[in-house]
Formats: sequence, C-alpha cells, structure tokens
Amino acid sequence: MDAKALKIEAARAALGYVEDGMRLGIGTGSTAEEFVRLLAVRVEKGLKVIGVSTSERTEALCRELGVPMSTLDETPELDLTIDGADEIDPELSLIKGGGGALLREKIVAFASARMIVIADKSKVVKHLGAFALPIEVNRFGLKATMEEIRRESESLGLSGPLVLRIKDGHPFVTDGGHLIVDASFGRIPDTRALSRALHDVPGVVEHGLFIGLADLAIVAGSNGIETLHP
Ligand code: A5P
Repeated sequence: MDAKALKIEAARAALGYVEDGMRLGIGTGSTAEEFVRLLAVRVEKGLKVIGVSTSERTEALCRELGVPMSTLDETPELDLTIDGADEIDPELSLIKGGGGALLREKIVAFASARMIVIADKSKVVKHLGAFALPIEVNRFGLKATMEEIRRESESLGLSGPLVLRIKDGHPFVTDGGHLIVDASFGRIPDTRALSRALHDVPGVVEHGLFIGLADLAIVAGSNGIETLHP
C-alpha cells in the first residue's frame, strides 16, 4: 500500500469514533483531508455532526464537501478532534505544523474532550526531533526572536539550523498572519523543557510540540491498523 492508501485507512478507522451529534475538531494536512472526504460521505448519508476547522484550507474543503461547520467562538467545547501529525512518539507527544496550521490545531485540540491522531506508520518515532520543529513567530522583530530561540534552545543543549519557512519564493504566512521558523534540533530529549523555553520567548506565538494532548493514535501500516495509547 502506498502512503496515500495508508492515510485513507487511518482516516477510515477514525471515522468509527465519530458519533451522531458530535462537535468535531477537524485537522489539517493530507491525512486530515482524507478524513474530511470520508466524513462528508457519512454526512451525506445522514450523520449529524458540526465541525470546527483548524485552518482556512480545511474549512474550504469541508464547506465544498457539505460538512456543516461552526467556529470555535460559536462552539467552544468540542467532543473530539481528529488530526494528523508529523511525528508521534511512544507517549503520543507529537510534532505538528508541517502544514503550518499548528496554532489553530493546538487551540482546537485543547478545546476538545478527546484528540485522535491519524497517520501512516512512517510518522511513528522513538524520539521526536528528526522532523524540524515548526515554531510560529510574530513578524515583528523576527531576527531578535530567532536569536532568542537559539539562546533558549542552546541552554537546553539543542542546536541546529533555524530556517524561516519560504513558500513560492516568499516567507510562508500562517492563517493567523505569522511566520514559521523550522528548527532542526535533531532528537529532543526533554520536550516539556523545550516547550517551556520556547514559550518564554516573547515573539514566539506557538510551537509544534503537542504534549499530553493526544488520547489515541490510529496508525496504518502494511500489516493493518494499530491503535496506540499514551
Ligand atoms: C498541519 O499543520 C500539520 O500539523 C499536519 O497535521 C501534519 O503536517 C501532518 O500532515 P500530513 O497528514 O499531510 O502528513
């Protein structure tokens, strides 16, 4: 099975956790999009749910496919969020933000009673950090913020390139109007310490470490579906 087929399998398995009447957080990325496609088919057949999206991109797809949508302001408490991830460790700590939607993804996941992560098996790692950690930063004072991120991370023994994310020749701009710095620290031994250190930097809006948020990961591999618990 190719990666797309595995993503579809994980998304299909996640649909089994969706119940009539649920308020659903809906993630961003190629795996989450497969989930939206399958969800839309169920909605067409009569499933009643209300979705809150984690990005403009997901919002547009949901509306195009007829999934009823709300906003987090109208619907501030969600039953379940289903989202992809860039890396998943054995505690179900995650790196997210490869698609640049980490801020809304984290806000929506926090507002949810449960979060289920869907992924193909390539996302499962022993330790987080091979995937560059996305850090969402305010545009103002970018250089000073990057310098401070460097100082904070070095104090934890982490080093490696910090790269401003570029798309189509221009800095990538998030739905919130911010920039993304991708930090290639390599293995992150203490994710909680790094999370705290990054939050201490004033220009950092949010980072892609999701710690203690995922309740379940549904992982599709060539041998079928595996469910992982923290
Ligand atoms: C979006 O910002 C990310 O957090 C995605 O959830 C993550 O990049 C996974 O994307 P794929 O499902 O496309 O791999």
